[in-house]
Amino acid sequence: MCGIIGYLGKQEAEPIILEGLKRLEYRGYDSSGLSVGDKNKITMLKSVGPIENLEKLIATNALVGNWGIGHTRWATHGAVTQENAHPHTDCQKNIFLVHNGIIENYQQLKEQLIKEGHRFVSETDTEVIVHLIEKFFQGNLEKAVIQALKLIKGTYALVVISRDDPEKIVVAKKSSPVLIGLNGNEYIIASDPSAIVSYTKKIIYLDDDDVAVVTKNGIQFTNLNYEILTKKTQTLEWNLNEAQKGGYPHFMLKEIMEQPQSIKNSLAGRVIEKDGIVKLGGLENIKARLQEIKRLIIVACGSSYFAGLVGEYLLEEYAGIPTKVEYASEFRYRQPVLDKETAVLFISQSGETADTLAALREVKRRGVLTLGIVNVVGSSISRETDAGIYNHIGPEIGVATTKAFTSQLVILVLITLFFGRERQMSFSLGQAFCQELYSLPALAEKILAQRENIENLAQKYKKYHNFLYLGRKYNYPLALEGALKLKEIAYLHAEGYSAGEMKHGPIALIDKNFPTVGIVFQDSVYKKTISNLEEIKTRQGPILALATEGDEEIKKITHDVIYLPKIKEPLMPILAIIPLQLLAYYLGVSLGYDVDKPRNLAKSVTVE
Ligand code: G6P
Repeated sequence: MCGIIGYLGKQEAEPIILEGLKRLEYRGYDSSGLSVGDKNKITMLKSVGPIENLEKLIATNALVGNWGIGHTRWATHGAVTQENAHPHTDCQKNIFLVHNGIIENYQQLKEQLIKEGHRFVSETDTEVIVHLIEKFFQGNLEKAVIQALKLIKGTYALVVISRDDPEKIVVAKKSSPVLIGLNGNEYIIASDPSAIVSYTKKIIYLDDDDVAVVTKNGIQFTNLNYEILTKKTQTLEWNLNEAQKGGYPHFMLKEIMEQPQSIKNSLAGRVIEKDGIVKLGGLENIKARLQEIKRLIIVACGSSYFAGLVGEYLLEEYAGIPTKVEYASEFRYRQPVLDKETAVLFISQSGETADTLAALREVKRRGVLTLGIVNVVGSSISRETDAGIYNHIGPEIGVATTKAFTSQLVILVLITLFFGRERQMSFSLGQAFCQELYSLPALAEKILAQRENIENLAQKYKKYHNFLYLGRKYNYPLALEGALKLKEIAYLHAEGYSAGEMKHGPIALIDKNFPTVGIVFQDSVYKKTISNLEEIKTRQGPILALATEGDEEIKKITHDVIYLPKIKEPLMPILAIIPLQLLAYYLGVSLGYDVDKPRNLAKSVTVE
């Protein structure tokens, strides 16, 4: 979803901004643009479609100068047109601005500004900001920006430059992420750290209501009352390789293949096998408070929500903690019953999903303990939760999550052990879990070695237009996640269902053209799931099964089987999602889709 980049320094700004825009492509966009300043002149270019279109424009229009801003837009207000693409400029073409977020009172502000004589050229909410800044501008850009911000209701990360206050970039934030990277006397601004990791690892995150004024002499941070702020510089632990494809045709495949390593990274230093316990640095400080917790609510969106559903089974079965999972977009508008014995756990890869963040703020307002499982270090959710655990898997670029999902499941097992061993879980069970956790990376390798087989299955199944994914107990959320992957990447209609519930409706859809992906391991619900699949077979529904190695019985129901190694039932989803990710990937590729930029989707959904 919309990406921002800005540069001020000694070098030509255009190539640096362009590279940043390309690194932001994965977030999803439909148009792009940039403005580059040279002394008292600013040149702006914008285009619809892929960044290559913008590059063509740049090739025929020299963009000289060493400060500027760029943007990839994902349309919210107004169609995908060149006028609606960012940057936006004022009537005098003095001020240029890029913006992520939504201005809620833009209609009202626009009407007023039009009455005052401002001329609007786009349908966006963003354009009102630049006209407001124009209205207040008297030679000092940050003053005009702050005056404008005081009238705006909504969310924003904005980056502004002005011809009449040259060689300066003003950055401001409310609810949408933005950070500044430092490299000597050079500054690079971005909405996402992966865009600047090739350039610098020293970064400063802006907090809500911060305003940063970047010039060649340094950065000054203030709040909206002009009070000077001191900000902490952080060091990004990611390296450039992690943000590049590394020889794979797509980020999605690279990240699927990285899972043995990312699982290892999420476990590293956290599992103490000899005692059958885990150590979670992020929770140590609040251990006493956690002992009083009698109920957990997990709040998340998308795949993170499905990971939460697996967490619910785990925490109730092995830690004895009543757990409930909620979509953040629903939770934030309900009146949930919260008390001092409840903790709310927020799961988010990006740490910036707007609904999850809003839900977190509401829970905090009510004084309830908040925890996080977040991948992006320093992101809003990681900063605002009381305590939490990082995934430590490096940047995830593929829009549809893969390695972050498996890592979230791993962390949920660790949290279960953390709570469980303090409560009802025995030493021997704790130890058995620890041993099996260590075996996960090697088993994941084994599954990935079957990728050619899965590619062939994708060829066989690509003729179908509808799919049913069935699983029970721990594998029910997996069915939901498998179906979601197929929708996101291969644009195929897929429904994830609880295998037992299937007979209450979806079974009516089954015929020889409606295949089922049946997740049926030799676990506590094996026989029941087999019976459910028999019902599909009776109705001539083709079945592709995910089964336990050595299970010959399953071949009586279907010829197409992906065999997976045996592991403890609650850990199975961590392995079993891998073939489902590969299936979606190969189906998407064989149908000719760009799996790294799935249509209409965004990596980090920072609007409601
Ligand atoms: C988007 C992504 C999904 C992700 C969801 C939640 O829809 O495409 O892959 O699961 O956001 O994102 P979060 O960063 O909060 O985990």
